[in-house]
Amino acid sequence: MSEKATLTIEGKSYDFDVITGSENEKCIDFQQLRDTTGHITMDPGFGNTGSCYSSITYVDGAKGILRYRGYPIEELAEKASFVETAYLVLYGELPKAAQLKTFSARLKEHAPLHTNLEHHFSGFPTSAPPMAILSAMLNLVACFHPEVLEVPTTGEEFDRTVALLLSKVRTIAAFAYRMAAGKPINHPNPNLTYCGNFLHMMFSNPYQEYEVSPIIDKALNLFLVLHADHEQNCSTSTVRVVGSSRANLFSSVAAGVCALWGPLHGGANAAVIAMLEDIKKSGRPPAYYIDRAKDKDDPFKLMGFGHRVYKNFDPRSIILKKQVHDVLEALHLDDHLLDIALQLEEAILKDDYFISRNLYPNVDFYSGILLRAIGIPLNMYTVMFAIGRMPGWIANWKELHDHKLRISRPRQIYTGHTTRSFIPMSDR
Ligand code: ACO
Repeated sequence: MSEKATLTIEGKSYDFDVITGSENEKCIDFQQLRDTTGHITMDPGFGNTGSCYSSITYVDGAKGILRYRGYPIEELAEKASFVETAYLVLYGELPKAAQLKTFSARLKEHAPLHTNLEHHFSGFPTSAPPMAILSAMLNLVACFHPEVLEVPTTGEEFDRTVALLLSKVRTIAAFAYRMAAGKPINHPNPNLTYCGNFLHMMFSNPYQEYEVSPIIDKALNLFLVLHADHEQNCSTSTVRVVGSSRANLFSSVAAGVCALWGPLHGGANAAVIAMLEDIKKSGRPPAYYIDRAKDKDDPFKLMGFGHRVYKNFDPRSIILKKQVHDVLEALHLDDHLLDIALQLEEAILKDDYFISRNLYPNVDFYSGILLRAIGIPLNMYTVMFAIGRMPGWIANWKELHDHKLRISRPRQIYTGHTTRSFIPMSDR
């Protein structure tokens, strides 16, 4: 017999199914709640609301577990490239050698942008934030490839579209940076790897091809692997909400970019560096910033701390912290911001306010320091996150369609005026 939950309202009892996930997580199915009781559930910010079934990513926030398609993030970060991980997230299995070869060849084939599309970059002011350019250009790409607007979610056509999107997002990102920096664009080089090609498009100049160091290539792969998916976060939920209206894949992920941009989500990686720079410049001790973060009258928050789901530790921040140390050492770099970050973390982990609220470093706390070591400019940090998250957004958009989900349309409790008569202008 299936497990039931009983809800009593005004003396009347109602039974609802209890659903159990493959990791034994529990949920009460309230889909019929309104029809049977006339009530809705209230959960602003969706802290307790399951919006879908998904077989892509599993997160256990209490235990600090993150797995893509069942594979622990620690193993993927150590052993898988971003392209392999993207394939896994998208198709559910690690690629065999031949599958990886075809997938990589498609990514290479789709790296260049249509020449007319390239011209659009010069229409943006040089001050345009790269996240705005990225979101706009993702919609524009679809205009140049109208066939992708009607793409099915399986088969050859879908495979081509996925490769096109994953490949072009990287070219758009690099071109956006070059244009904003007033530098000529570097066309993709088909002989380079996914990450190597991105670094070449970012940093080569007419006289010198950027030489991709294996340390930096590995660090960039790791950064992207760690960001490839994270179940129903703000941007992925946005992709699903937009996609649920049957909006095309490109406009859905463009909306995901906009959601990611905010400082409480992906924008936190740049905000962390701005905060650490500020600490360095001011010369004030970490305690000053910790006190401000605790003061409810001060809007200041410690960026890179806290998470809706992780209440113990974010496994990505542990991996990144180690990677930052390894990369700085291998490149013989010394980053003063790392010392400040370590001091801040140490002080916070002893502080009752943070302990009692389970606030720990999240993925964004150390990722900025890694991106600095790789040489990525600050205004590109959240764009880097978007490149990494693209496989997760696409996989969630596909799953939404495969599960034939209804259009997203939450309810509300109205708290405004009850009905009243129109007041003529002369009486107001
Ligand atoms: N600094 C100070 N206090 C904090 C912080 C922080 N970074 N984060 C949470 N708190 C406090 C809240 O004020 C609240 O205190 P209260 O119970 O006294 O009211 C308590 O901790 C719970 O926090 P909420 O804001 O309710 O947690 P929520 O799950 O809604 O928000 C979020 C999570 C947005 C990540 C939040 O912790 C935050 O703003 N962190 C800083 C921004 C950041 O690093 N974002 C990146 C997240 S990872 C990602 O999206 C990729």
